[in-house]
Amino acid sequence: MKPSLNPWLVNPDEYPADGYSSDQLEFLLAYAVLAPSNYNTQPWLFRINAADVEVHADRRRAIRVIDPYDRELTLSCGAALFNLRTAAEYFGHRYEVELLPDAGNANLLARFRLGLKAETGAEDILLFHAITQRRTNRQPFQPDPLPAELREELTQAAAAEGAWLKFIDGEDARANVADLVAEADRRQWADKHFRQELANWVRTKPETAPDGITAHDHGVKDWLAFAGPALIRTFDRGGGEAARDREIAAHSPTLAVLGTEKEDWPAWLAAGQALQHVLLAARAQNVWASFLCQPIEVPELRGQLTETLGLSGYPHVLLRLGFGPEVPPTPRRSPRAMLIHHTDQSHA
Ligand SMILES: Cc1cc2nc3c(=O)[nH]c(=O)nc-3n(C[C@H](O)[C@H](O)[C@H](O)COP(=O)(O)O)c2cc1C
Repeated sequence: MKPSLNPWLVNPDEYPADGYSSDQLEFLLAYAVLAPSNYNTQPWLFRINAADVEVHADRRRAIRVIDPYDRELTLSCGAALFNLRTAAEYFGHRYEVELLPDAGNANLLARFRLGLKAETGAEDILLFHAITQRRTNRQPFQPDPLPAELREELTQAAAAEGAWLKFIDGEDARANVADLVAEADRRQWADKHFRQELANWVRTKPETAPDGITAHDHGVKDWLAFAGPALIRTFDRGGGEAARDREIAAHSPTLAVLGTEKEDWPAWLAAGQALQHVLLAARAQNVWASFLCQPIEVPELRGQLTETLGLSGYPHVLLRLGFGPEVPPTPRRSPRAMLIHHTDQSHA
């Protein structure tokens, strides 16, 4: 499979339109793995069968300190599933998705079956091309807010997947959210287990690493960005991170929070698909996004965020949206490295 070398460079012209379903599904995985995941853990595995592909959680890649219940992990897998759906539609297939199809196997999150041929709609084409253009962009954004029609489109994109997207307007609300982001930074960095976990995913030679982030990706801007994980483990950067993130949150042209009414695995899978639908719809209109999820990762602050914004249900990601400069893509493991083989029973 050619796209395995670098999924960002997958060439849609190489899609095996007349091939077996299993070859087509393998090709579609190049798009699935371009989904975002916290710390770029890429916590998914796939098993290809004759006519379907199973999406599994790879819990060896869990980040237990900030995500003890695998909520973010499940969101990431939901985002990968949305890419699979979008790519299948682009290549002219109907599909069926069965969520959590096996009550006895909590790792099996979804079964995705390719169906008959279908027309590709204009929206499918736009979303599809956005898959390879999307990146988490932590650069400063221009001050222009999002056009009202785009806000409405993104709200509808989340709703289509069973989630909600709420824009955070008004100086007071933004200041409250900025305070919560700063407080979360302070609490997370004060915890040596947080620093240890972050250090485990920080790569000092990103050009050769297939996963993880650089300290710079995490927003660390000073000398520590170029320092090794040992220093991240050792120094509490809470104060510096808090001040910087408060600025970012307070001065972002557009802030929005995505959530669901319920808090369970189906809701998390819905939230992940909604997240990716929103990110791709935004990217299709030239809009970048980055995440400020810290206050949602600290349970007490998640409650305060819910209360201060009057949210109904459970927030999952806090997004910053806007127009800005290009940034390069982050690395991905080869889709081949994420295949469960039929002889491997460890994830069955
Ligand atoms: C559920 C979730 C939460 C995330 N939270 C943060 C965050 O709080 N801060 C941040 O800088 N990036 C966050 N990210 C972005 C990831 O770091 C990013 O997706 C990953 O490094 C891969 O890069 P890419 O999105 O450019 O492909 C989050 C991503 C997901 C899916």
